[in-house]
Amino acid sequence: MIYKTETLEKNNHNILLVAKKIKAGDIVALPTETVYGLAGRFDNDLTIKKIFSIKSRPLSNPLIIHYGSIENALDDIYIDSRAKILAEKFWPGPLTIVAKAKNKFISKIATSGLDTVAIRVPSNKVTLAVLNHFNLPFAAPSANRYGKISPTCATDVYEELNGKVTTILNGGNTKVGIESTVIDISNKKTKILRHGAISEESINKLIKIHKKKINIKVISPGLSHSHYKPDKPIRINATRPREGEAWLAFGKKPDYFYGISLTLSEKKCLDESAKNLYKMLRLIDKKNVKSIAVQKIPEKGIGLAINDRLRRAAFIKDK
Ligand code: TXA
Ligand code: MG
Repeated sequence: MIYKTETLEKNNHNILLVAKKIKAGDIVALPTETVYGLAGRFDNDLTIKKIFSIKSRPLSNPLIIHYGSIENALDDIYIDSRAKILAEKFWPGPLTIVAKAKNKFISKIATSGLDTVAIRVPSNKVTLAVLNHFNLPFAAPSANRYGKISPTCATDVYEELNGKVTTILNGGNTKVGIESTVIDISNKKTKILRHGAISEESINKLIKIHKKKINIKVISPGLSHSHYKPDKPIRINATRPREGEAWLAFGKKPDYFYGISLTLSEKKCLDESAKNLYKMLRLIDKKNVKSIAVQKIPEKGIGLAINDRLRRAAFIKDK
């Protein structure tokens, strides 16, 4: 089925319209503070199946359920002190908690039949307003085709899903630019399943994170090696650009290079780099270049998440 895809500006009327659509079982692409999501009712198997099919995502890769309030989110999982500490410190915000599911109405398709569920309370005001209109959570993966870069503005979503969704809610550029951190508290050892907007250091100050290497196949399909890929090949940890490449700098752009070059952050700010990463990769991907070289990014703070995405984009196995 091919739809006419309409982009709606964010205003009260459209926020209500989108909330109504989701309540009725439709699927809408909308902004969160991290990346745009593809939202549908948390308890509607047909809707959830359709989300997987729009993205061409394997059914074995579960979705995150988004809530309008911390209480409602925590009500749906079996909690311990870790859940409370994390929720209090980081919600609303870009942290996703994986825990044993309590709410039996959450679609089993959304959780890929697991006994755990991934939940978060986003901080984007538009999305919170949508969530709170009917007090209904929604399931939402990032609004990209499977394996591709997550969209950080409404035009990116349109590029990814034109004809596949009816509605995109335009909330401008997302604040963070990279996905939420996924943390697993479903058993005694707390593990980070996906590095993201909330740094490991800031979580470690509150809760001890178990650092032993985890079995990718068992835990989180989002950890699969070949994810977040632009179309062009990527060379990471680069020190200088080569002929025919586009250059994505961290810091100042080199004045000796006449090819296409952009900087993630001239002042070497990691937050700014995260915000620019997907946007710039998309932009460069459209240019007439053989490949993309990205300058080395420090492995600290949100830099861990940036490097994780770049390693996957470059198809290089984690060390
Ligand atoms: O920032 C974000 O998290 C965005 C916005 C839209 O909220 N969403 C997002 O969703 O990135 P998605 O579907 O692209 O990634 C969800 C990740 C996947 O890596 C998935 O495997 C993992 O969460 N996940 C979901 N449920 C899980 C579960 N029960 N156990 C382990 N991992 C889970
Ligand atoms: Mg995704």
